[in-house]
Amino acid sequence: MLYPELFKQLEAVRWNMDKDIPWDAFDASLLSDDQARTIKMNAITEWAALPATEMFLRDNKDDSDFSAFMSVWFFEEQKHSLVLMEYLRRFRPDMVPTEDELHEVRFEFDPAPPLETLMLHFCGEIRLNHWYRRAAEWHTEPVIRAIYETLARDEARHGGAYLRYMKRAMLKFGDEARAAFAKVGVLMASARRTAQALHPTNLHVNVQLFPRDTIQSRLPDPEWLEHWLDKQIQFDSVWENKVVDRILHNMSLLMERSFASVQELNRYRKEMAAAVLSGGLKDEGALGASAAA
Ligand SMILES: [Fe+2]
Ligand SMILES: [Fe+2]
Repeated sequence: MLYPELFKQLEAVRWNMDKDIPWDAFDASLLSDDQARTIKMNAITEWAALPATEMFLRDNKDDSDFSAFMSVWFFEEQKHSLVLMEYLRRFRPDMVPTEDELHEVRFEFDPAPPLETLMLHFCGEIRLNHWYRRAAEWHTEPVIRAIYETLARDEARHGGAYLRYMKRAMLKFGDEARAAFAKVGVLMASARRTAQALHPTNLHVNVQLFPRDTIQSRLPDPEWLEHWLDKQIQFDSVWENKVVDRILHNMSLLMERSFASVQELNRYRKEMAAAVLSGGLKDEGALGASAAA
């Protein structure tokens, strides 16, 4: 089980809402309306850990270790939402999200393959770590800068915890896990070539609710994310490449093979997909043989 060790590690570095945020350093002259609005939107997207946790627990019913770890992840993500709301409550109470606005992002996700979801969230944590580091630079008000830096470190640790579960999955499931991780890795490292920001909160997750089946589409301002990335924090190709490099670097370590580009990871994805397929065919062959005997 990984849960006891991860619990201990994350507990040891956990920050305190009252003591570790420099609330006294607040400077009202350095916070614009635009900036306050982005904090509100981030508070709501962090709240989306609630439906994500419901999905994780539903889709991992046979994995009690991972499900137990969800208690830590869920707690920390809700705390992210809470610290952003606490900031607004103190300094821009008119911008605090309403309970209805928070509740709006709670909806059911369609069942998805757990290995792919795990990799999706691993990449999501890496991406969010980079987005928040940029947000800390873009903001001018010192308290919110410290909050985004704090959140960025948590997201990196979450990525590290998911990576541990990915390693465990490779021991358990072999090529099936490799194929799933490579498939989602290619998708998530290809953001440069797509118009849309690739993050779990921006993916369609419920066919029946389409097009209002992404977290972003259910925000008070669905256009906010693209605006935040392009115009405000200016998440440009230099930053995008950092995300891609982190994903490729971790995939290289995980698969014990070097991937210098998304194309190389894509070739590996095809190999693994073929290996899973031929493994499946062999199993069918074996079944056929035993049925004949
Ligand atoms: Fe978070
Ligand atoms: Fe996170």
